[in-house]
Amino acid sequence: MRIDTAAGSILTDPWVNPAFFASWFPFPDNSQLDWESLGKVDYLYVSHLHRDHFDAENLKRHVSKKAAVLLPEYPTSELEDELRELGFRSFIKTRNEEVVELDGGLKIMIQALISPTDGPIGDSSLWVEHDGIRLLNQNDARPSDLSRFAELGHVHAHMLQFSGAIWYPMVYELPEAAKRAFGKQKRERQFDRTWRYIDDLKADHVFPIAGPPCFLDDSLYQFNDIFGDEGAIFPDQSVFLSEYAKVGGTNGVVLLPGSVSELNTEGGVTTAHPVPVDEFFANKAAHLEEMRERKRPIIEAEKASWRHPEVDVLAEMKRRIEPLLEASIYMAKGVGGPVRFDLVGYDGESVESIVVDFPGKEVRQYADEKVRYRFKTERALIEHLLFTGEVDWVNSLFLSCRFSAARIGQYNEFVYAFFKCLSQERLQYAEGWYDEHERAVEAESIELGDWEVQRRCPHLKADLTRFGIVDGDQLTCQLHGWRFDLPSGRCLTSVGHKIRAARKDAPAEA
Ligand code: FES
Repeated sequence: MRIDTAAGSILTDPWVNPAFFASWFPFPDNSQLDWESLGKVDYLYVSHLHRDHFDAENLKRHVSKKAAVLLPEYPTSELEDELRELGFRSFIKTRNEEVVELDGGLKIMIQALISPTDGPIGDSSLWVEHDGIRLLNQNDARPSDLSRFAELGHVHAHMLQFSGAIWYPMVYELPEAAKRAFGKQKRERQFDRTWRYIDDLKADHVFPIAGPPCFLDDSLYQFNDIFGDEGAIFPDQSVFLSEYAKVGGTNGVVLLPGSVSELNTEGGVTTAHPVPVDEFFANKAAHLEEMRERKRPIIEAEKASWRHPEVDVLAEMKRRIEPLLEASIYMAKGVGGPVRFDLVGYDGESVESIVVDFPGKEVRQYADEKVRYRFKTERALIEHLLFTGEVDWVNSLFLSCRFSAARIGQYNEFVYAFFKCLSQERLQYAEGWYDEHERAVEAESIELGDWEVQRRCPHLKADLTRFGIVDGDQLTCQLHGWRFDLPSGRCLTSVGHKIRAARKDAPAEA
């Protein structure tokens, strides 16, 4: 998005080049916009470091280095460091949820989410006000509610995510019918969450942005939502409009690359599109086919850069990961078992199995044992991660969807939290966060139905007075849909994350 006001312009998350091992491309294709002009801005806002938001190549080549960067208040300096590396010199370091007045009466506020599960240690939303018009670019951030924005006054434009941005359930080795059923559930949850945010803010206009990407590599093409698969987790903007209409939504505005919307204080909006939106989406399959052919050389060139036969994968994983296993208390305990990587060699057949043994705190050859998770991927991808010193395998390997997975038991968020923290700085931060979080979430109690439970959800601290629903002996936190068995306190959705609960009439413990 580029936001233009009389007091200055802000470019936000200018993503153009493929991300995550050339898996994700922006759709519709925006690579033919005039980035030279779009990049001449007063301010730059990069919400977080995920590569579909932070596009180093585009930032380097096209965005004016005179632009002042509006920086979220993150616990690590990585975003600032990476932007400095690209040549940006001017930074406005915002404080979380504090309004900043810039020149000409332009006001901004950034809410920074900083749990280890928010983006790559951080995701954020940008609120902007000028001349009585307010907008919120919520992006793909998932705050527990939008009250901080709502209290700053009526919002005219709300931009938010509505589509999936993850590898679940597609990569799981499950029967097709089960995968479709999980996908369908996931798709419904995504839309429900979107409706709740929209309802929270009650903006005049809603702009579905931040997804979905498109997949142009032949091996991933089936993830595009063009095959009538009701379990596809990447519905597009036209699907958003029809689903939104079913819940009574009439104020959705879909933008294509090059569309321009003008907002006015009376609540009106006028939008000009480069081509009619309906017509564009009616021809989506043809657009994707055309992009697939056009981008093929880019994908092939990237693929050719992944192999590093000189890398001794086991030795290098040991060197990189073992000190982190040693330093990890919460996450290692949370994973609770070995995680196996099956690496398929260049010949497409041979497989080397390496285990990251969380309880044993070592990386070693697989020893015919039971594992918590198993990931199967190309050896070349792991070689590339080790060769480049990648500290975040979620922001590279996992989001690429270029793997398959199997697990025993429930989803385990600590597995992914650990593999996004492959540096001491990140690991120490995440460990400290879990420690503090555990203490904080347990402090306060509320009454829900027949139960007294802790006020904050053990997952990401959602206020259960608002998000908790009790049905019999089960509590569901509606923020991410996690369920808890109240008599035992056990989380039914993920390991760890026990909830404190007691029946109201239960006798006090002696
Ligand atoms: S905060 Fe995520 S399920 Fe409650």
